[in-house]
Amino acid sequence: MSFRLQPTPVARPNRCQLFGPGSRPAIFEKMAASAADVINLDLEDSVAPSDKDSARQNIIDAIGAVDWGKKTLSVRINGLDTPYWYKDVVDLLENASERLDQIMIPKVGCAADIYAVDALVSAIETAKGRTKRIAFEVIIESAAGIAHVEDIAAASPRLEAMSLGAADFAASMGMQTTGIGGTQENYYMLQDGQKHWSDPWHWAQAAIVAACRTHGVLPVDGPFGDFSDDEGFRAQSRRSATLGMVGKWAIHPKQVAIANEVFTPSEDAVAEAREILAAMEQAKANGEGATVYKGRLVDIASIKQAEVIVRQSEMFDA
Ligand code: COA
Ligand code: MG
Repeated sequence: MSFRLQPTPVARPNRCQLFGPGSRPAIFEKMAASAADVINLDLEDSVAPSDKDSARQNIIDAIGAVDWGKKTLSVRINGLDTPYWYKDVVDLLENASERLDQIMIPKVGCAADIYAVDALVSAIETAKGRTKRIAFEVIIESAAGIAHVEDIAAASPRLEAMSLGAADFAASMGMQTTGIGGTQENYYMLQDGQKHWSDPWHWAQAAIVAACRTHGVLPVDGPFGDFSDDEGFRAQSRRSATLGMVGKWAIHPKQVAIANEVFTPSEDAVAEAREILAAMEQAKANGEGATVYKGRLVDIASIKQAEVIVRQSEMFDA
């Protein structure tokens, strides 16, 4: 173990992030009434260039006018390669109410991208006397983003969450697919003439989780485009949760309940984790570092694994 302890990420639920285009204000109230932990109002790729100005105004109005409850409220700004992003930041920070929690920066390629937004946000916060410090979340969705993922995770104390954006990532990597996440038909191993599908998103997800955990940032799985495929969404979510991600985006309201279900530890999992902790307490009392639980080894590392599940469950109960 390094003598540097792993930092703890912000303790707030992030099981599902529900997206909606800023150009469609009619759905804002529905988003606020949803069961998603995080709301992402979008100024980027779901908004046509001709609608950028009106979408920005819709979002500024709605941040103050809609009752967002206890949700984390985030706005996805445009990328730093566009002529829109500076105005997104300036208009939002100058005019939106303090209810805004977070800005999502898409397509980050290096730590300096975050530094640039941080400098602008910091200046406006001071100039306007804003009392709540805006948090950041970023999307890793390019070859450069994944190549520099650890620097990006360490780029700013404002950074709370990092998502994998499968579609732009696939395009940037030159991957032969038009699917947004999920199983890719041509990514398989052959064994005795039988196809066995592998997961082409796995390594990028694992790299993101490692970078995030090193720097105390929440790792999140991005969109799953085929919102008619509930079981595909569930399978992708379960893989992400198994790898250490804390939640997933919803690009349609029907995905919210599935994400919440998968990223909330089940009662059985919590009960088992508590039993493991109890078994290890007993072992400790007996002067042992390891013991047997249901026919398998549990030891001091098992305590940490079980605590991950119990801590998650307690946070959602609170
Ligand atoms: N949030 C909340 N409610 C939504 C919603 C969303 N993102 N998308 C649709 N709804 C509502 C609809 O208004 C409709 O409500 P109603 O039953 O009261 O009429 C209901 O959910 C069913 O919607 P449906 O007709 O199935 O979908 P649609 O054709 O209206 O919209 C999408 C489908 C995919 C265009 C839309 O969900 C959407 O814009 N998603 C977000 C896209 C986005 O933000 N992308 C950027 C991140 S990748
Ligand atoms: Mg994208």
